[in-house]
Amino acid sequence: MNTDRRVILGIETSCDETGCALVAGGRQVLSNVVATQIDLHARFGGVVPEIASRAHIEAVNTVIAQALEAAGVHPSEIAAVAVTHEPGLIGSLLVGLMAAKTLAWVWRVPLIGVNHIYAHAYSPALESEPIEYPAAALVCSGGHTALYHCRSPIDLELLGTTIDDAAGEAFDKVASILKLGYPGGSVIDRLAKDGNAQAVNFPRSLLSGQSLDFSFSGIKTAVLYHVNGVPGADRRGRKDSPQPAPRTPRGIENFTPRQVADIAASFQAAVVDVLRIKLRRAAKATGAGTLIIGGGVSANSALRAAAAELARRLRCTLRLPEVRFCVDNGAMVAGLAWHYLTAGRVADLDLEAHATVRR
Ligand code: KG4
Ligand code: ZN
Repeated sequence: MNTDRRVILGIETSCDETGCALVAGGRQVLSNVVATQIDLHARFGGVVPEIASRAHIEAVNTVIAQALEAAGVHPSEIAAVAVTHEPGLIGSLLVGLMAAKTLAWVWRVPLIGVNHIYAHAYSPALESEPIEYPAAALVCSGGHTALYHCRSPIDLELLGTTIDDAAGEAFDKVASILKLGYPGGSVIDRLAKDGNAQAVNFPRSLLSGQSLDFSFSGIKTAVLYHVNGVPGADRRGRKDSPQPAPRTPRGIENFTPRQVADIAASFQAAVVDVLRIKLRRAAKATGAGTLIIGGGVSANSALRAAAAELARRLRCTLRLPEVRFCVDNGAMVAGLAWHYLTAGRVADLDLEAHATVRR
């Protein structure tokens, strides 16, 4: 354990969780409060940005107060205030940023801006041993799928990213096709345990050569066609017939629960294969001895098992976050911020929010 036990308060509001945590020495989580908005967005099948920002405004003060109380820490003991300022939904990011600036100004402590994806890549260190660098990190969540060469917690080089959907987004969209509700990742994970992962051979999009980029839109479409039939495939008569194409089968209602579980398992296996193969490529390209997986999808049991097997084969150390630190939370922000504070990399009160990461 390091001897620098400075406590940082971290705020996370980049998407649909309002999070606040207090973390000492970069790894000891004193409190971690997350108010999720899932119920508000579920009926829309995805996050509605305006609803998200409003809900953050309503929740943020309470979440901060709860985190302080749960940690039993007085504001005078806080060394810095950290906040996710990129990437994310701009309205949501701004709520957390305003709260963090206010606290930093009132408490007269440094403000630290944290990249949300870097924080996911740091999350395995929470309540655990320090991560050994260099590392190859895979961050896969609802909004992001990216590979990094990490030379330290705060020195990350982007190796590849998704050219269309994020991995978690594919889970959520497939769950919607299978009518499993939102968000779908954890439901598919559970259902897949009863399914046959070889039942349907969904495509594994690896892109060209040794590419470290990802594409998940093809597999989502493949599941859609498997469930609803290929549009026009059964079309009888003229190509420009005004009749809508009969499609068989028509919708998930025509599949048995066993078949639905098979689709879930087969889809999950295809996504996990792609993530595993790309992480393997990144490990080889960087020569890193540590593999990191973070982000909401890192909670996936099949991915965790595949990553463990990969690490064993490559003789690498695998670092996975505890499941409670996989989804968005303030602890990963406060934890990573300790490294910025130690390096003297603090922000001014004019720190900006960015929806996307500037290159
Ligand atoms: O990191 P996160 O909370 O938010 C973003 O930064 O986007 O990730 C949320 C995503 C959702 O798409 C959700 O379906 C997915 O993580 N997820 C999972 C599992 N648990 C959450 N995906 C696959 N398997 C899981 N067990
Ligand atoms: Zn996230």
